[in-house]
Amino acid sequence: MNVFDAIQQRRAMKRFDPEFQLSQTDKKQLLNNVMQNAPSAFNLQHWRPVLIEDAELRQQVRKIAWDQPQVTEASLLIILCAKLDTWEKDASQVWTGVPEETQKVMVGAIDQYYRGRSQTQRDEVMRSAGIFAQTFMLLAKDQGLDSCPMDGFDFDAMGKLIQLPEDHVVCLMIAVGKGTSQPYPRIGKLPYDDLVKLNHF
Ligand SMILES: Cc1cc2nc3c(=O)[nH]c(=O)nc-3n(C[C@H](O)[C@H](O)[C@H](O)COP(=O)(O)O)c2cc1C
Repeated sequence: MNVFDAIQQRRAMKRFDPEFQLSQTDKKQLLNNVMQNAPSAFNLQHWRPVLIEDAELRQQVRKIAWDQPQVTEASLLIILCAKLDTWEKDASQVWTGVPEETQKVMVGAIDQYYRGRSQTQRDEVMRSAGIFAQTFMLLAKDQGLDSCPMDGFDFDAMGKLIQLPEDHVVCLMIAVGKGTSQPYPRIGKLPYDDLVKLNHF
């Protein structure tokens, strides 16, 4: 499938075939492809996807997610989390393989960009997670799968359910599987000129 078709055909799926099962190999391959190829700020790869495979835990997630059926029907349910302090903990590691001088420059630049700027640290992981999610959903479409990005859930309760570490945040949830519902027509798209500004607001 070409990229344009994948973009056009990806829709937020509301119901999935609960009998459809992706193999563990397929799930891993999908995730790995995204992890290897999606961009992230300073290559920090902030994302930490948590796969909810346990049926009882799925039920608990559904309870805190407005009882949305995608949660239990999807073959793959990912709570896309991110690590807030990758800038401090992982910077050297993700810049190995370049000349030593370049690595030093990058690690220094990363430190300067993030240190003492908690809002920037949080914004940055959300940006990377958003791009990760869209890349993932387009790849899923390419593989004949449907998906739904979701933030209709109680974030604090989710953190507790998945035992989120202190230095991580929950970004959003992604459900993937074989869709069984017809998407709503593409509605309410705002006019180009209302959204796009030329040079300034
Ligand atoms: C961050 C985010 C959160 C969303 N949360 C939910 C959700 O909890 N449940 C749901 O059914 N759809 C959810 N959606 C899907 C949107 O409603 C959907 O993308 C939008 O209506 C446009 O439809 P389309 O994706 O089919 O083009 C979410 C989308 C985004 C980007």
